[in-house]
Amino acid sequence: MRVVMNLQHKIVAVVGGATGIGKATAEICAAAGATVIVADFNEADGRATASAVGGAFFPINVADEASVAAAFADIGARYGRLDALIQTAGILRGAFVPLEEFDLATFKSVVDVNLIGSFLCAKHAVPLLKKAGKGVIVLVSSGAAIGGSSSYAYGASKGGVNALGITLANKLAADHIRVNVVMPGNIDTAMKRSVIAAERERLGPGGEQQQLELGEPAGVGRILAWLASDDADYVRGMIQTR
Ligand SMILES: NC(=O)c1ccc[n+]([C@@H]2O[C@H](COP(=O)([O-])OP(=O)(O)OC[C@H]3O[C@@H](n4cnc5c(N)ncnc54)[C@H](O)[C@@H]3O)[C@@H](O)[C@H]2O)c1
Repeated sequence: MRVVMNLQHKIVAVVGGATGIGKATAEICAAAGATVIVADFNEADGRATASAVGGAFFPINVADEASVAAAFADIGARYGRLDALIQTAGILRGAFVPLEEFDLATFKSVVDVNLIGSFLCAKHAVPLLKKAGKGVIVLVSSGAAIGGSSSYAYGASKGGVNALGITLANKLAADHIRVNVVMPGNIDTAMKRSVIAAERERLGPGGEQQQLELGEPAGVGRILAWLASDDADYVRGMIQTR
């Protein structure tokens, strides 16, 4: 028996779907038969991804509740329900900045997008997931949540995403909403390349930089898309990937 990933008849919103892991996820969800919604604050790339996957684009700033509420209200008006929310939007700032020099505004900006953004997306997606009768929320955290972050703010925010995911999973189970958190490793995206560049600058000429083997965005995208499918109904908790 050959089983293939199947997202037919599913409406899947990929938040942060303009570039990187989110973009790859949108492509894989569409290839698996889903109706794909791409939401991002990068409108140019977001619209390009949406049109490439035959889906719709919705502008959103996940750190701003009015923007998140408006985006999900528009999604609800157009589709009436949502089967899965895959929240990949995130930022990394303050890589390699020493604690004594780490400014509060930078710390807060990272928490606002990564943690509060995940909370706001879940909050405003849940009414649409309930309309579907059952649903899935997948939050993208990071291996940095459990050690080795280049940034105090990034590591802390992703630790918060893990705890948010566990709390959502417990509380939303009664509504037949499954919540999983995915922690990617080092993946070849603009975000990761900017961290590598920041480290190169910190080390200076002649400094020896550890060579990372970067994984492909689609490798994580396949897992995120699969988690949105019914085949993943029995998966619980947090998942680490390459
Ligand atoms: N690349 C890695 O090695 C790696 C490792 C672990 C975790 N992650 C996580 O994977 C997710 C995707 O990151 P990526 O590596 O693909 O980088 P990326 O920069 O290509 O993707 C991030 C996306 O989030 C969007 N975004 C950022 N702030 C936003 C906001 N306020 N509102 C709406 N959209 C916003 C960006 O426009 C972009 O499309 C992030 O949550 C990141 O923390 C990445």
